[in-house]
Amino acid sequence: MTSIPEREAKVHMNMFRRPPMTLVKGQGARVEDSEGKTYVDCVAGIAVDALGHGHPGLAEVIAEQARSLIHVSNLYYTEPQINLAEMLVNASGLDKIFFVNSGAEANEGAIKLARKWGIQNRDGAYTILSTENSFHGRTMTTVAATGTPAYREPFGPPTPGFDFVAYNDFEALEEKVDAQTAAILLEPIQGEGGVNVPDDSYLQKVRELCDRENILLILDEVQTGCGRTGKMFAFEHYGIKPDIMTLAKGLGGGVPIGAVLANEKAAVFQPGDHGSTFGGNVLACAASAFVVDQILNQGVLETANARSEYMDKKIAELEDRSDLVIGQRGKGLLRAIILRDDIAADVVGKGISQGLLSNPVRPNAIRLMPPLTVTEEELDDAFGIIETVLQEFE
Ligand SMILES: Cc1ncc(COP(=O)(O)O)c(C=O)c1O
Repeated sequence: MTSIPEREAKVHMNMFRRPPMTLVKGQGARVEDSEGKTYVDCVAGIAVDALGHGHPGLAEVIAEQARSLIHVSNLYYTEPQINLAEMLVNASGLDKIFFVNSGAEANEGAIKLARKWGIQNRDGAYTILSTENSFHGRTMTTVAATGTPAYREPFGPPTPGFDFVAYNDFEALEEKVDAQTAAILLEPIQGEGGVNVPDDSYLQKVRELCDRENILLILDEVQTGCGRTGKMFAFEHYGIKPDIMTLAKGLGGGVPIGAVLANEKAAVFQPGDHGSTFGGNVLACAASAFVVDQILNQGVLETANARSEYMDKKIAELEDRSDLVIGQRGKGLLRAIILRDDIAADVVGKGISQGLLSNPVRPNAIRLMPPLTVTEEELDDAFGIIETVLQEFE
């Protein structure tokens, strides 16, 4: 019989360098492949599966909603969409929201919003300052906003109006702001760039700069939002609020959904300015409302914080036991274990054969982002595998 990887090679464009196993089901933070082998899932759909796999409550909400309405047009009201909108507006302290289907789309929407605001309110300004090593998505405009040239260079002239400075370098950012600047776009912690946590005062200084210069602060919380860093939104760690925030990934617990939130000042869209067939789809909103309620009101955030502390302990133990581990970066359940050598891809590859899914986010850094509901036992297994694999490299 032809294997799935052989079938894939014939018909699917190779963009992901997948390992040769096919995942078929999951429970909690464990997934199983078609051969019956299980893995601790510390990738969780890249910080998506907030409640883990096979969550019975989430499955029931999706099934129940599917039995009544899966989709109607945004030309009409649906209650789950407005319920979710109220939950996220209340939780964030921002004023208005609209829904999309992914992180890139959320950032596209945020960029359009900021440009319209700048053109109307700052004498036609439309430039957005972003940071080196950032990641904001794969559409033509979000690759133009992404501070990793390799992601945009093969595709011809990028969307104009973006400029870049080093992340966590406030002076460089301050120097770049000029009359053309409409907004600053930042991840509160850079995810794809290597789980880079800025200095405690960085975001506060950026907030003050934006207020002083009358420009918008857009926080891309696609990866850091929805409880991933131990708060509902990562900006809460820093005592500030953005003007615009984007969400996706964990928001639907695996069901595709994204959102753009804005304060009154920045919420300048009028009917006809933007839209989406599927954005705010009733099935996705019902699922997301369940996920957000679990995170905020049903103890998931507390669990995530307890597991984050446990993760600190496990990483510290690993550092004591292995000369190859030289530190860690991250917050909550978004972590990178830093290795002495550039062996992350090999460690992750060997981890898969031992039953662990993790991510080589940098040549010397392994990213762990398990479900927010991960158990201590699942983390024990994950760290046991990492330790065993590292011993092979010592
Ligand atoms: C911070 C950030 N923004 C945007 C995106 C793009 O999201 P999506 O893949 O859903 O388009 C990602 C994805 O990794 C991300 O980490």
